[in-house]
Amino acid sequence: MSEIINGKEVAKSLRESLAAQVVELNKRYGCTPNLVVILVGEDPGSVSYVTGKAKAATEIGIRNTTLRYPDTITEKELLDVIAELNANEDIDGILVQLPLPKHIDEDKVIKAIAVEKDVDAFHPENVASLWLKQPGTQPCTPKGIIKLLKTTGVEIAGKEAVVVGRSNIVGLPVAKLLLDNNATVTVAHSRTHNLAEVTRRADILVVAIGRERLVTADMIKPGAVVIDVGVNRDSRTGKLCGDVDYDMAKEVAAYITPVPGGVGPMTIACLMENTVESFIKKVTK
Ligand code: GUN
Repeated sequence: MSEIINGKEVAKSLRESLAAQVVELNKRYGCTPNLVVILVGEDPGSVSYVTGKAKAATEIGIRNTTLRYPDTITEKELLDVIAELNANEDIDGILVQLPLPKHIDEDKVIKAIAVEKDVDAFHPENVASLWLKQPGTQPCTPKGIIKLLKTTGVEIAGKEAVVVGRSNIVGLPVAKLLLDNNATVTVAHSRTHNLAEVTRRADILVVAIGRERLVTADMIKPGAVVIDVGVNRDSRTGKLCGDVDYDMAKEVAAYITPVPGGVGPMTIACLMENTVESFIKKVTK
């Protein structure tokens, strides 16, 4: 029987401390951080993410605007919007919700965001800083996962960590952060042969594939810490679910994150932290 890692609570406490910090920053600099979120199209998942980000920002006292464009916007028009936001000194963070429509080159758009305003940390320069251990912004979900492990009191150093998933947004950067925290890291993926054999070695198992019930209880080492990054619709109940068969896995793991209420709220809280940090860098320059 495992302990549930309450990402909602940890994220709430991070948001509260950011809110207090924003009050102090406002007293000192007479100004608050400012975040612009760009949403192209009307994908319900993206709309819901963007709404969550705006709500968190407002609650913390971060000024925020969501710019919504139809999915007919051209790449050039989107790049022009970004150029304008880059040039606006009053804006600290720019986030373009992904995915973008097929006719827009995502890499080009990400690269167009000024590095110092790239609160998602998707810009190649921020990605390079992470891999070269140089100062830079850390991506929100990986950063949130490490914070969750640390606040839960999980020792990372010396542990066997297995990351299932190798995306640029989660799998690869979380593997790198675990490595930097002195875990021994294996990166597995959807084509790994004998995935169960690999996952059963994990003291810390991070799953970020996006397939319901990919990880079943027999794939988990008893006493492991399980971090579920998946966000899926359960085909049986229609409810939100992760990549891990939660009900069975919680009988085997020592700690487990639920979906929803695990990693998701931490991603948003870390985005807010990145926005505040970007503001601080600007005003202390
Ligand atoms: N789409 C799915 N996750 C993310 C994220 O963390 N940031 C952005 N910008 N888009 C996403």
